[in-house]
Amino acid sequence: MKKVLILGAGIYQVPLIRAAKNAGLYTIVSSIPGDWPGFAEADQIYCVNTTDKEGILQIAREEKIDGICTTGTDVAAATIGYVNEKLGLHGLSEASAARTSDKTIMQETFHRGNVSSAAYIRADSPQEAMEAAEKIGYPVVVKCVDSSGSRGITAVHRPEDIEQAFAEALAHSRKDYVIVEEKLAGVEIGVDGLIQDGKLVFLAPHHKIVCKRFNKTITAGHSFPYHGSDALLAEIEKQIRTAIEAMGFDNSAFNSDAFVDGDHVSIIEIGGRAGATCIPELITHCFGFNYYEQILRLAFGQPVELPGEKATVPCMAKLIMSPVDGFITKLDREGFEELRRDGVDLSMDFAIGHAVDSMINGSQRIGQFIVPTQDEEELNLIERRVNRCIYVNGKTLDELWQQEELQK
Ligand SMILES: Nc1ncnc2c1ncn2[C@@H]1O[C@H](COP(=O)(O)OP(=O)(O)O)[C@@H](O)[C@H]1O
Ligand SMILES: [Mg+2]
Repeated sequence: MKKVLILGAGIYQVPLIRAAKNAGLYTIVSSIPGDWPGFAEADQIYCVNTTDKEGILQIAREEKIDGICTTGTDVAAATIGYVNEKLGLHGLSEASAARTSDKTIMQETFHRGNVSSAAYIRADSPQEAMEAAEKIGYPVVVKCVDSSGSRGITAVHRPEDIEQAFAEALAHSRKDYVIVEEKLAGVEIGVDGLIQDGKLVFLAPHHKIVCKRFNKTITAGHSFPYHGSDALLAEIEKQIRTAIEAMGFDNSAFNSDAFVDGDHVSIIEIGGRAGATCIPELITHCFGFNYYEQILRLAFGQPVELPGEKATVPCMAKLIMSPVDGFITKLDREGFEELRRDGVDLSMDFAIGHAVDSMINGSQRIGQFIVPTQDEEELNLIERRVNRCIYVNGKTLDELWQQEELQK
């Protein structure tokens, strides 16, 4: 029986662990200690931090693993690269993983490789950030170089806000510098895909579903397939191919954030793993092949199995979130069943009695739902039905969100 080491035991790794078991693999999962749902699914667990390179390497050696991977998170990339290098395994290489670990290194890699991306300057102090912003021209984005989930990232329109943005970036960083970038115009999209032996073998751009709260833009879901002109689709592919080559990705899934302005495409970032927020589920649904299986195949050095040209099935996913802190006090199971009968693929992260946090970013998710449509209005109607089935502190999520809307 082949053994796979999956890094992370959170809600985004659960379907990868399940796919591995379905494929007949022995699953070993490591994560920091905690009540993680992935621990309950695995054949064998270790409570080792996924950023602890030596600790994870030791597990990999002792267990004689055949492959290592993750999905939906950037934090484990450097460790995966390290283990692959030391044990001569397939998957993400150490050098390419290192280029994803710091946004200044990634930008340097993009610019050297002629990838279309934002102008940038590294800044070691608020004064340098101020000078960088003057040079680039306002508005700029002041960014933490080594975080994720939009933590420590602030759009700045005036010099008087630079200092605060610099402090915010450092507060989320293990580094003592930040990156100042030109603020790109246009619409943000996501791009996911698969790379085998350095070649792009699958490409799926997608629309982001965002919501605004407390002046922050939060990615709350995605919509597949992407609709754009042939010229735009060709430019997305060109920039992604250039970025993959510059980064040196060889055998992994990737997830990229990009901006589209007319037919112009700029890459913000690219990581050597599949996206979170239901992206693998949506690709599976839209293109008709199991995406998690392909992630595993790449980690084992097996050829990916892609379907031929087939019609795509439109679909969207959105996270379920709460506008208040509290507890889940009731779930309307009949309502859930009705939604499922209407083709909604809904799953909750928590049961009745579990605590929930007010939405700040995607980490406060309490569940997700996937709808076979690309009509935003239909999605919103389904979302209200979903929210009417979930009670927090005795009120439905729908009531709570309506209340917040009224207070604005
Ligand atoms: N140069 C930029 N111009 C415009 N928006 C940006 C820029 N850089 C980042 N952003 C916004 O901030 C978000 C988070 O930035 P990103 O570099 O993707 O960091 P993270 O690793 O936290 O996802 C992006 O998804 C985008 O909405
Ligand atoms: Mg990002």
